[in-house]
Amino acid sequence: MTLETEAVERFRVVGGSPAHHDFVDKVKGSLLYAADWKLPGMLHGKVVRSAVAPGRMVSVDIQEARAIPGVVAVLTAQDVPSNRVVEHASGGLGELTVEMPVLAHDRVRYVGEPVAVVAAVSAEIAEQAAELVAVDYADLPGVFDAEQALREDAPRVHEDGNVLVNWRLSSGDVEAGLAEADVVVEGEYRSQHVEHAYLEPEAGVGWIENGVLTLRVSTQVIEHVTDIAAILELPENKVRVIASYMGGGFGGKEDMTVEPYLALLVWHTKRPVRMIWDRQESMLASTKRHPFVMRYRTGVRRDGTILAQHVDIIGDAGAYPCLSARVLFAGAALSCGPYRTPNASIRSRAVFTNNVPTSAFRGFGAMQVVFGYESQMDRIAERLGLPADEVRRRNFLARGDFIPTGESLETAVAVPETLDRALSRLGERGEPSGPTKRVGRGFACGMQPYGRTIWFYDRASAWLSLLGDGTLLIRTGVTDLGAGQAASLCQIASEILGVALDDISIYIGDTALNPPAGGTFATRQLYMSGNALLTAARELVDRIAPVAAELLDCPADALVFQDGLVRVGKGERLGTGLSLAELVKECGDRGVSTAHLSTWRAEAGTFDPSTGKGGSFPDYTYGTHAADVEVDVETGEVVVLRYVASHDVGRAINPVRVEGQIQGGAMQGLGYALLEDIVLEEGNNVSTLFANYLIPNALDMPDIEVEIVESGEGKGPLGARGIGEPPIAPCAAAIANAITDAIGRRPSRLPMTPERVLELLAEEDQ
Ligand code: MOS
Repeated sequence: MTLETEAVERFRVVGGSPAHHDFVDKVKGSLLYAADWKLPGMLHGKVVRSAVAPGRMVSVDIQEARAIPGVVAVLTAQDVPSNRVVEHASGGLGELTVEMPVLAHDRVRYVGEPVAVVAAVSAEIAEQAAELVAVDYADLPGVFDAEQALREDAPRVHEDGNVLVNWRLSSGDVEAGLAEADVVVEGEYRSQHVEHAYLEPEAGVGWIENGVLTLRVSTQVIEHVTDIAAILELPENKVRVIASYMGGGFGGKEDMTVEPYLALLVWHTKRPVRMIWDRQESMLASTKRHPFVMRYRTGVRRDGTILAQHVDIIGDAGAYPCLSARVLFAGAALSCGPYRTPNASIRSRAVFTNNVPTSAFRGFGAMQVVFGYESQMDRIAERLGLPADEVRRRNFLARGDFIPTGESLETAVAVPETLDRALSRLGERGEPSGPTKRVGRGFACGMQPYGRTIWFYDRASAWLSLLGDGTLLIRTGVTDLGAGQAASLCQIASEILGVALDDISIYIGDTALNPPAGGTFATRQLYMSGNALLTAARELVDRIAPVAAELLDCPADALVFQDGLVRVGKGERLGTGLSLAELVKECGDRGVSTAHLSTWRAEAGTFDPSTGKGGSFPDYTYGTHAADVEVDVETGEVVVLRYVASHDVGRAINPVRVEGQIQGGAMQGLGYALLEDIVLEEGNNVSTLFANYLIPNALDMPDIEVEIVESGEGKGPLGARGIGEPPIAPCAAAIANAITDAIGRRPSRLPMTPERVLELLAEEDQ
């Protein structure tokens, strides 16, 4: 039996925004990030990267590099015990299994691919040595565009072919639906390569302790310990990964970054090593967001009801699989958005090119398609002469409805509330500020999964221990990206056990000392480890409450855990009770453990890729963003005047952190909409500096006004939904719709730079 404590209903700690845990160290600047750790006698590591691609490696000469005084190791492919990283198949149709070498051996496939790794006594010497590693390449024909890579005669990036995966989903009869439609609206939309641009680039240190290879790195996923062990051919228990608190991940630290290179150098030299990728290296070689080409055909009735939708998505995977197969699945599954689509036919392909690999990035495929389906919704409204919100309201999904995978929605779909809140917050629209200015308003709705695809059988564990003085220790393998992952768990524990936040210590992100919780990605961490911790706390209460009940001479379910006390009664009639310290002592005397481990399992299910039917994600977070923009028709400049973002987060465990997630996500989405573009010229990245890769700053953009909806219906702890990824999703479409409203021309390509806006304005009227 789980005791439903009074606390759960009343929420004393959950729902507040206490500044605790990592706040103070961050504000003081005393929190140690991955690059801040130093070890005595440590070496400095540097990755040598290919400057050309694709190319056959004719020879690799390390003699000159090795000869520099202070260079301790120069390692190449032959020094890697098992030189491959294999992505486990996602289950897609005809999915290719393609290995990625840790260090390239016979050919390089993208500019920036690692070919060697150096360790030296200083970072300067390592840098110098890296430049002296001489690789001779013979040119190979390359392909740098996903659509070109689909052609029969395109150069092959990998022997098995250029299509990594081809997802197909369908429901109903799309041709019949289109035939029955009064109007068919078509659109083609293109998005760009995008950089994660976290404040903290990839970094870490490694050392050997008690024979265990130990890495302390900036990573979202300490479970890569198994990949690292495989590469070094070590037993898994001889590798330990510790995640430091992060200055952002956004998906870019979901694949390994510095880990295998640090591991190789540490294991080879038997000395501590530090590796820090500088900004330029990070922007050159880290994974990017997939550019999508999206083609939509949507058939609707005259009243705006969607009858059928055809979607074709092509994603540029770059040179290696990384997480592309999964990203393209999410793109397919969410491609119809929060709208009933009785007849749908969806194809989504991840295609290899000789570009830098693309992989996880906040929104994970489900965000790119929002630009597609929300541009379509506005187009439909324009064609039918209906208000844009009315067309959407006619089609919104509701609980019990199905998405094209055949999966039904089990929790409230509060997207209409978010639409109302966003539009009413915007209020009256302003006047243009000058004769060349046009103002416009746009909005976009979206849905974004939280939790991993359900056929991955996800689980998370958390352990907690009430100590002799009534303070609490929490251990769980979560990684903290900077969004308060650890702090939220403290709030939940405080809520259930009545321990003050200042009396809770939490240890996270360590494969050796923490029960596994799974990585922080897929907007899963609050949902997974939050449920694990909540369960552990409730089960611990269940175990120790009877001891308190006996001492206080009352039934266990009359007890309240609050303010460091266990008390009898309710509200005004609360008795004085027993301190937690006294209870722990009494438990000790009776042999009742006050430490508890709990494992929480996400709901599991199956999906059949041959029919495109089955379950996909545990649940979704819905939202609407709305914007007023002003476009200068002379310069093409777009200024965002007002921006409102509203999401149903189910329950806000910590409203200030929720607001922070939404503001950060929306700001990142505005960069995606208007500014950010990794420009690759024949695979060469010409935007590896913040001087030419523009991210938004506080001067460029307005305050993000946040409207939090709390339906209480999420599948996370206490009814919470995930909010990590959702707030980036609707931005580009909201801005595109606002620009269209302002100038009467529809952008269909991201980012919507002044140059592109001027091109649109120069187009002949159709
Ligand atoms: Mo993510 S894009 O699943 O960190």
